[in-house]
Amino acid sequence: TNIGVIFGGRSTEHEISVISASQAMAAIDREKYDVTPIYITKQGHWYTGAPLFDVKNYRHIPELLKQCTEVYMRPVYGDYNLYPANPKGFFSSSAMKPVGKLDVVIPVLHGTNMEDGIFEGVLQTIGIPYAGCDVLSSANGMDKITMKMILRANDVPVVDYVWFTDKQWHTRRDALIEQIEDTLGYPVIIKPANLGSSVGIGSAHDRNQLKARIDDAERYSTRIIVEHMLADMQEINCSVLGDCDDYRTSVLEEPIKSGDFLTYEKKYMGGGKGSEGMQSSQKRIPAELPDDVTKEIQHLAGETFRVLSCHGVSRVDVMIDRTDGRIYVNEINTIPGSLSFYLWEATGLSFDKLMDELVKLALR
Ligand code: DAL
Ligand code: MG
Repeated sequence: TNIGVIFGGRSTEHEISVISASQAMAAIDREKYDVTPIYITKQGHWYTGAPLFDVKNYRHIPELLKQCTEVYMRPVYGDYNLYPANPKGFFSSSAMKPVGKLDVVIPVLHGTNMEDGIFEGVLQTIGIPYAGCDVLSSANGMDKITMKMILRANDVPVVDYVWFTDKQWHTRRDALIEQIEDTLGYPVIIKPANLGSSVGIGSAHDRNQLKARIDDAERYSTRIIVEHMLADMQEINCSVLGDCDDYRTSVLEEPIKSGDFLTYEKKYMGGGKGSEGMQSSQKRIPAELPDDVTKEIQHLAGETFRVLSCHGVSRVDVMIDRTDGRIYVNEINTIPGSLSFYLWEATGLSFDKLMDELVKLALR
């Protein structure tokens, strides 16, 4: 079986995707599978080639790409092949000769345009089997507003929120501020609805901060969500693996942090660079929690995965309100950083077995 691992792309989380994908490619059992890296540049061009395996080569992208072949994917009589994108003449023999044959692809993509159903739609159009969430569950999982609506409708607890569009912010700012202050009070967290890795997220403790943070969030998304901020909260993450009818949950992780929320820098740049970045963000695995709380969080993570009709491996991030012990689902990452392998390892499933399960789920 030939696996194409697709990563990079037009996303603010491009670099994290490169790290996640290099880890995933290194984990795949080569006795069983062949692996073809497919790197999508920030401009949207697809490349393949052996130098794409090594994360160190991404320090000089133009150099890297010179050693690779630009490709596109097209289905030819049921074979999903990669063809050179710039053959000399369109009908030349090099144009007809595939540079890679694939049976299945594993998207290891993060963020807007990539993890939110847009790219999943490309794969769906080509017709190639792929691992992970489909268009609908990817889109619902990425949009923090739609996700919370679906969770709330299914009795999965989420914090109170107010949402609006950038246009509404420009035309009825005062009414929105009043609504936010009346329903949520301060402090609040302001988020662009559809970005991952804490990009564009800020907190506000008064009206001036609120305005500034919304102006900031609005640069990233046309849809904005303002959420009630828990004064004293503990963040816990849980991974879910399978499909919405048959899934299991991992042990829990507690990210260790300082400040109100994890920023992009703290998450990925803290202390390390390149491939070490992801591991250097601190976490406690398993999180030290009473058994009943652990079970409840695993249950809610599973419910989140189920009601959003997810597939493959996701990570559900929850918050515990330390003042009253209540648990809220904060978000789902339908293609989690490092594919959450560290949570599955701690649960007893090695990274190569995790990749194996993703392939089997995709081909089922
Ligand atoms: N969106 C990033 C990669 C995560 O939260 O896992
Ligand atoms: Mg997240």
